[in-house]
Amino acid sequence: GDPRLQAISNAIRVVPHFPKQGIMFQDITTLLLDHKAFKHTVDIFVDRYKGMDISVVAGVEARGFMFGTAIALAIGAKFVPLRKPKKLPGEVIAEAYELEYGSDCLEMHVGAVEAGERAIVIDDLVATGGTLSAAIRLLERVGAQVVECGCVIGLREVKGQRRLNGKPLYILVEPREIDGCYY
Ligand code: PRP
Ligand code: MG
Repeated sequence: GDPRLQAISNAIRVVPHFPKQGIMFQDITTLLLDHKAFKHTVDIFVDRYKGMDISVVAGVEARGFMFGTAIALAIGAKFVPLRKPKKLPGEVIAEAYELEYGSDCLEMHVGAVEAGERAIVIDDLVATGGTLSAAIRLLERVGAQVVECGCVIGLREVKGQRRLNGKPLYILVEPREIDGCYY
């Protein structure tokens, strides 16, 4: 395999029982502190997406912003923030998604993405996939084509399919020290 992936995995700190008991929190702030590992992370996505005629990188607040903007700049695409409610000042469309308790919502500015544009969605981590599903729905509502979702961290499903709502899902590394729950 790609030796850069081990460096990336090593740079992610696991914080047990944060933000609550039983969660093995995958902390990407230590990846951001490690210039080489952070650059490897962005480079791998850039190499994958640069020839794919992508015009939109949609980044999921908050941790998806940290990777998505760098990727957008490098591949020559626009960056579109998908934000938590009441943060964007313009006209928005919204999509709710389920959490363990209750629900949350992502919003996107109307006019940021046009019908027919080819988009990728970037986030740090996929757990249930609820967040990415909402992101996909936002982009598809305005007629964009979601080519793939890219995440730094996620479980590779043992039996194969790495897809989300029928969309390809590209994951760099597995969560470390899995103990039931990992985000
Ligand atoms: C975390 C993580 C992903 C999402 C994954 O974000 O950064 O965005 O949860 O979970 P899911 O696949 O089960 O939907 P969080 O909502 O905690 O907020 P943050 O990125 O703003 O810290
Ligand atoms: Mg997040």
